[in-house]
Amino acid sequence: MSRLVVVSNRVALPDGKKNGAGGLAVGILGALKNSGGVWFGWSGETGEIDDPLKKVSQGNIQWATFNLSEEDYEQYYCQFSNGVLWPAFHYRLDLVDFTREAWEGYLRVNAAMAKQLAPLIQRGDIIWIHDYHLLPLASELRRLGVNNRIGFFLHIPFPTPEIFTALPPCKTLLEQMTDYDLLGFQTEADRQAFIDSLGLQTQVTTYMDGHHMADGKSFQTHVYPIGIETEDVIEQAKGPLPARLAQLKAELGRVQNIFSVERLDYSKGLPERFLAFETLLEKYPEHIGKIRYTQIAPTSRGDVQAYQDIRHQLETESGRINGKFGQLGWTPLYYLNQHFDRKVLLKVFRHTNVGLVTPLRDGMNLVAKEYVAAQDPRDPGVLVLSQFAGAANELSAAVLVNPYDRDDVANALHRALIMPKEERIARHSEMMAVLRHQDINAWQEAFIRDLKQVKTRSAQND
Ligand code: G6P
Repeated sequence: MSRLVVVSNRVALPDGKKNGAGGLAVGILGALKNSGGVWFGWSGETGEIDDPLKKVSQGNIQWATFNLSEEDYEQYYCQFSNGVLWPAFHYRLDLVDFTREAWEGYLRVNAAMAKQLAPLIQRGDIIWIHDYHLLPLASELRRLGVNNRIGFFLHIPFPTPEIFTALPPCKTLLEQMTDYDLLGFQTEADRQAFIDSLGLQTQVTTYMDGHHMADGKSFQTHVYPIGIETEDVIEQAKGPLPARLAQLKAELGRVQNIFSVERLDYSKGLPERFLAFETLLEKYPEHIGKIRYTQIAPTSRGDVQAYQDIRHQLETESGRINGKFGQLGWTPLYYLNQHFDRKVLLKVFRHTNVGLVTPLRDGMNLVAKEYVAAQDPRDPGVLVLSQFAGAANELSAAVLVNPYDRDDVANALHRALIMPKEERIARHSEMMAVLRHQDINAWQEAFIRDLKQVKTRSAQND
């Protein structure tokens, strides 16, 4: 049986301390346990470079991680991955800060990773690489003679050609991507945007069986919407709130609760959401004193300027809204720039009335899915979801909104707050059917099944 080699920038180490093991980590671990293999990536640390790699094993899985130098962390992670690719792929060209040094750093780290990874790869292994940090990795591995099947899954959106072609190294990035055997995307729109961008650079032929040829290279593209560990979330959300949160439970019960959790990221549309909440209070004053909006947003990528800016903006806006609408004994908006334990959050979701998830762009958004799965099916909360989250394709029974339109979001919130129980139950059960069918295991199994079926590069060359 072929082993699986997984590569991602962040690695969920078995001690669970670093990098947080969310649903994705559980899905990847499930895949690794099935066939045995290696999980390779950044340790999350900077400083002295590890040579040899740091290795830990448990059962049939080995973790191999490396540190980044300060310069590599700056250029590969902060500047190119999160200062160029992340904003561009989320349609924010205004935030792209491209420099040739950053691009060279990105290539240098990908080449160094390939060099460290290649000796760990055995004949017959299949390799699964994740996300935008590693677009050139297959290309670097091929250069070192790795002929194994290599698949790639993009967790974030792929932008339309008008956006993508604004990136100075767009042609090289596309050439590198065609060195993968299988490219997986969250939605059909993302897959199509990739093919359209490629088609502008070179001739792409698509065959009856779905595979493509470009510049003499054969590859496949497919859509795999990522899911959550649905059954597990249902179980975890059910239990009582820990005793230390008894006061929170009482507090939650005093008002109707609108609840949101995400990394503090400009793609999540948080200032727009705050303004929509303000519009709700203005347009529907009957809710004043009777609702609360809690926004949890732990700092993320705090070394990148655009993330520092958004943080300041939220601090100002939340203070202004509370100053304007708050009353003695009632604070309308709780903004918490802190990390909370995921297991606790799942239980809290169940005690809230509205899950508000309104990114301006999002590859999928697993919080939206977790919010739904955490609800009590007999009296569920309502999901208000951005039409620009990948999850909106599957969760069409949510109340869908345009996050740029604060009146639309305010109206949706009002509707959610007064929605009759029968309608809440009907919407919830429609969404649960999707979440049960398309969970994280179905996702990883579909990708791996398809990757195993592609012809190897060596076979193609025969
Ligand atoms: C998104 C990306 C992941 C990334 C995560 C956290 O979900 O798709 O690749 O790991 O954000 O961001 P960070 O920069 O902290 O790894």
